[in-house]
Amino acid sequence: MERDQRKDKELNIKDYREDFRTLEFKNDRLYLIDQRILPNDFSILPFETSEEVAFAIKDMIVRGAPAIGGAAGYGIYFAAKECRGDFDEFLRKAEKVRSSRPTAVNLMWAVDRMVRKAKETNLDLKSLRKEADSIVEEDIEMNYEMSRIGNEVVRPNATILTHCNAGALATCGWGTALGVIKYAHYSGKNIFVYADETRPRLQGARLTSWELMRANIPSKLIPDGAAATLIRDGEIDCVIVGADRIAANGDVANKLGTFALSVISKHYGVPFYFVAPITTIDFNCPSGSDIPIEERDKDEVRQIEGTYTCPKEMDVLNPCFDVTPHQNITGIITEKGIIRPPFDINIEKIKKGKSLF
Ligand code: MRU
Repeated sequence: MERDQRKDKELNIKDYREDFRTLEFKNDRLYLIDQRILPNDFSILPFETSEEVAFAIKDMIVRGAPAIGGAAGYGIYFAAKECRGDFDEFLRKAEKVRSSRPTAVNLMWAVDRMVRKAKETNLDLKSLRKEADSIVEEDIEMNYEMSRIGNEVVRPNATILTHCNAGALATCGWGTALGVIKYAHYSGKNIFVYADETRPRLQGARLTSWELMRANIPSKLIPDGAAATLIRDGEIDCVIVGADRIAANGDVANKLGTFALSVISKHYGVPFYFVAPITTIDFNCPSGSDIPIEERDKDEVRQIEGTYTCPKEMDVLNPCFDVTPHQNITGIITEKGIIRPPFDINIEKIKKGKSLF
């Protein structure tokens, strides 16, 4: 196994866990950090119905593929509570949560897992609550494992470029891409990070910068357009990003702009890694062209903080994600190991529960 050959010393990640909870369930309520207003305001909002959870996902109060999967688990628990034993009503409510955003497959995966549990237990609330808790706990553990595994691709003194936010805020805790980055930092690798600001919702500027600064990781925020020049000039040793859906052939959907970074990285020979749990693989999706790409409100592009930056009537295209073809990818770091080319064969191995090595 690749892991056993690593020489890096293992870090006790729990000593470095962040001091905030992206999502927390207590007193029969789901509490979410309102990610729309970070970093200027820190506010935790309570949610107690399936519709409220669907809204929180749609409006990006909670965002990031694994985090919306975690929140959705509790949304389905609420749906079971609300339906008073009417299974059709439960399924209608579950569908509302399932369709709150279309691209990140962790959302559908979590809802389907909860619906299966609801069928098995005849809508038993205690079992559903436990299942939702398990989704969250398992996600955190998978993030720890991905960080340990991913640390091997980060060489000492590396400069890493990341895009969007794939940290603790985007997951149930710790993070995927940012998890690997934090692990490398805390294990003393003396890394430096460039974070793309990530237009139009500015997840890099608002959220990744916030997490990088809290972790004291030497870093700089850059406008998205600066990345190409840094890569060309040999300033970037590797690109590490998260993922929203991985197709069976290894194509990956992630935040808009990832595809362009992958093309430039391939051109200049810079290694390009995705970090994602197996729950982000959609084994039923043959290739990237089958991944639904969310298109969001035009005003996300027309405005910054409520102020128009273009004529109000200007038409806009606002795709939220793009697809990186597997040919541009060096590896996909998962909790089961690093998937390398040929991606279709290695993803099939994972589907069948076989070892990658
Ligand atoms: O629109 P968002 O903010 O939900 O998009 C988030 C991303 O694209 C992340 O890179 C991805 O979900 C991975 S998060 C671990």
